[in-house]
Amino acid sequence: MAKIFAAITGVGGYVPEDILSNTDLEKMVDTTDEWITTRTGIKERRILKDPNKATSDMGVEVVKQILEKTGISPEEIDMLICATVTPDTTFPDTANTILAKVGSKNAFGYDINAACSGFLYALTTGAKFIESGMYKKVIVIGADKMSSIIDYTDRSTCIIFGDGAGGVLLEPNTEGNGFIDAVLRGDGAGREFLHMKAGGSLKPATAETVASKEHYVFQDGKPVFKAAVTGMVNTVNQVLERNQLTVEDIDWLVPHQANMRIINSVGDMLEIPKEKVMVNIHKFGNTTAGTLPLCLWDYESKLKKGDHIMFTAFGGGFTWGSVLLKWAY
Ligand code: UT7
Repeated sequence: MAKIFAAITGVGGYVPEDILSNTDLEKMVDTTDEWITTRTGIKERRILKDPNKATSDMGVEVVKQILEKTGISPEEIDMLICATVTPDTTFPDTANTILAKVGSKNAFGYDINAACSGFLYALTTGAKFIESGMYKKVIVIGADKMSSIIDYTDRSTCIIFGDGAGGVLLEPNTEGNGFIDAVLRGDGAGREFLHMKAGGSLKPATAETVASKEHYVFQDGKPVFKAAVTGMVNTVNQVLERNQLTVEDIDWLVPHQANMRIINSVGDMLEIPKEKVMVNIHKFGNTTAGTLPLCLWDYESKLKKGDHIMFTAFGGGFTWGSVLLKWAY
């Protein structure tokens, strides 16, 4: 029997309409368009302003788009994995909320919390359910409403993050196109540099935790920056080596969109031509689990069957890793 590969057969993306530009941020905190542009490469990000909308609502738009593009019905979905650090509620999970909202009746799902690496963890998990032959249609989403956990008086974080969601449909492929390999890593020792202090079982929400702004993202940017570059480059190289490939074999590098300087450093260290590196950070900022599928969504029309796509990401945890796949359409 031919080996089953888990191929991406459809891509969806969604960003809210409202734009938060660098000029807007200049009026909110002590910053400048020039500082943000040169230090991060970000010009604007999207914000989900409707107070009644949450991460699942962005996920729903992604799923609807995927169903429409691929011509499958909600009943045909077997499984949905949602990578997010901003679930609608602590429980139940966002994946099941999305499934209910799109009218899926025959699926199950769950969330994966791996911050900016969440989409890679979720993609790998989803791929294994396809490769094993257990499921035929698995949707993998990366979605975050970062504006719900950002302190818009903290200039070191509010300039970076934005809201958005993207996702893919995974289906079996016997032509050799699809998920090839992953090197995924985690090291909880990095948690002190990027985290949310309260709201979990360690420090449940109280009036004091709210007053002291402990429900927002805390980041010590410099150590995260350094670890991100090393972690992404190392795992890309490990994936290449394990598969007897070289950087020349990569048709597209899809890096997490956290900072243009990080993307450039990773690209330079790998010595990969800039035109092979997907970038949309200037438009959307860092959407955490959303960045990688939103890149695919933006670049979908340029991809060719058989292209080697290398994803790489780094985020809170620390979590990081790289995934290699062959494009199937
Ligand atoms: O996606 C998850 C993983 N996250 C990342 O990969 C993010 C990694 N880190 C970064 O991208 C960068 O560290 C940041 C963009 C967060 C910060 O850039 P940086 O070049 O590391 O700046 P810094 O934190 O060292 O700050 C340099 C200076 C400081 O002033 P002093 O102490 O030199 O006087 C900051 O107070 O820039 C100041 N600063 C700002 N100035 C104007 C910090 N934020 C701002 C701002 N506008 N928004």
